[in-house]
Amino acid sequence: MAFYSQDLVEEIRSASDIVDVVSGYVKLQKKGSNYVGVCPFHNDKNPSMSVNQPRQIYHCFSCGAGGDVFRFVMEYENLSFPEALKVLADRAGISLPEQDTSREDKKQADLKAQILMLNKLAAKYYYYMLRRPEGKSGYDYLTGRQLSKETMSRFGLGYAARLGGLYQYLKSQGYSDGLLKESGLMQVDEKRGMYDKFRNRVMFPIMDIHNRVIGFGGRVMGDGKPKYLNSPETRIFDKSRNLYGLNLARLSRKPNIIVCEGYMDVIAMHQAGFNQAVASLGTAFTVQQSAILKRYTNEVLLTYDSDEAGIKAAMRAIPILREAGLTAKVIHMDPYKDPDEFIKAEGAEAFQKRMDEAEGSFFFELEVIKRKYDFGDPESKTNFFKEVSAKLLEYEAGIERNTYIEAAASRYGLPAGELARMVSRTGEKLGGMAAKPAPVRPRSRSRSTEEEKGLRSQRLLISWMSSDEKMLGIILKYVEPEDFTDPLCRRMAGLLAGQRSEGRLNPAALFQYFTEEEEQKKVAAMLSGALPALSGKEEEEKALQETILRVKQASIAWQMEHMDPNDAESLSKIVQKRREIEKLHISLD
Ligand code: CTP
Ligand code: MN
Repeated sequence: MAFYSQDLVEEIRSASDIVDVVSGYVKLQKKGSNYVGVCPFHNDKNPSMSVNQPRQIYHCFSCGAGGDVFRFVMEYENLSFPEALKVLADRAGISLPEQDTSREDKKQADLKAQILMLNKLAAKYYYYMLRRPEGKSGYDYLTGRQLSKETMSRFGLGYAARLGGLYQYLKSQGYSDGLLKESGLMQVDEKRGMYDKFRNRVMFPIMDIHNRVIGFGGRVMGDGKPKYLNSPETRIFDKSRNLYGLNLARLSRKPNIIVCEGYMDVIAMHQAGFNQAVASLGTAFTVQQSAILKRYTNEVLLTYDSDEAGIKAAMRAIPILREAGLTAKVIHMDPYKDPDEFIKAEGAEAFQKRMDEAEGSFFFELEVIKRKYDFGDPESKTNFFKEVSAKLLEYEAGIERNTYIEAAASRYGLPAGELARMVSRTGEKLGGMAAKPAPVRPRSRSRSTEEEKGLRSQRLLISWMSSDEKMLGIILKYVEPEDFTDPLCRRMAGLLAGQRSEGRLNPAALFQYFTEEEEQKKVAAMLSGALPALSGKEEEEKALQETILRVKQASIAWQMEHMDPNDAESLSKIVQKRREIEKLHISLD
């Protein structure tokens, strides 16, 4: 890890006004004391993201993204902290001292940047070749597959000549063999030395969500083998974390994302207007990919090939999608092999119709399972229901599971009660291990709302404390960090008190103490909490008094619950605290 001094980090922060920086990526509008814009971290039309200039933080009320200026650049540009720091330092004209970056780290970052550069140059080279006379066979091949000129450009399609030529080109640009080897674009052979990996193929650049080329797929223009050749995994290309076409699909503003198998399927669907299509790059669909999709949508339509391999792939993908909280449906392509062939034969309207008729993933699974069994044979039928029972255990016990039990029972002609019994018996047999229990409910409703109220007051008070220096000073006269029962609030209060004693309130600087993205989101949400609209000192005093009282009361309640009833000393402390609260009178003077 590179290490930068705190002073330097703060220098860069104060030279990087968050409104300025975010405006470079997202259109912002002033609204009251905040700025608002469309959040770039999820698919949205509404201005759900607010940027708070005094506190130098951003927060999206819809998807929960949030943090300081460094976090924004990290998320948007997909960078590590030191990389984001560098971007902002460059922007502000601040030079980073050489010795601050460890040699090894810098080497790695440079290597990554250089491999990205090589991939970009390669994409340009192939792109250019496709449009030259030498590339005619590639151009004809793609035209023959009914791709328009615009589509070819949108996907940056290219052509690798029979003899390659990329190696010589990149060498002429001054790149070393060592680096070229790392790029995944070359092959090394003891006899022949280094030469182009991709030859005599049409080329599909693979881009990350920021439109950076991270690898390639290359297809033979006929029946040769292998049909597709793909870049190996490199420092910049992790197949399990990327989806082909997501750079375009994420901006499609459609209510779902279509997941298919192949490059040509994605391209054919986009050309037909289904620009929310992505492909899982010829590998099995991964947990990481499902987490990425969840950032952009709630519903995935699977349209894998209609052959056995495609069905198997869908059966594997469905539980992964479900686990990520995504609704999955399956689009049937039969009698065609894949979306590309379907659209070529039947057109966009017919495809839309198939999308509308997409089958819920649960019944898709059951239908696939059913094929193994013979409903004419009672024993086989029972075994089918046993397997169905195991599947039903994947759903959370309660309303969700019961709904599916009823649906399955009615579809396959079994009384729902009977299927429910089979499910619980199967659950017992599996030792409850595989079964998902119902979520633990709060002990009682009134209690949980009390707790929530207490938590809300704590968060509100943190927001208040961070609003300005004078307010922080006043609140700290009445409240100590230990008064907060919520661990995150307590830590924030402690940190704010620390800033106060150092004489400078700087809410955005608190983010450096929270390195986990999830924590940073919570911190951003807390710091962005709206303060009540108050007119006049008196009203403000009253509101503050109420909030502080609630925080202190929650603290006492917590202590009462956690103290040893035989400990006279703590009891007397609590009594003392209660008296103080009764006398508490907040004054803003
Ligand atoms: N694939 C691969 N390597 C292969 C074959 C396939 O990486 N040798 C991947 C590619 O991403 C391909 C996807 O798996 O797009 C689906 O393969 P397949 O169904 O065989 O090809 P199609 O997508 O139908 O390709 P085309 O329409 O060009 O024949
Ligand atoms: Mn195909």
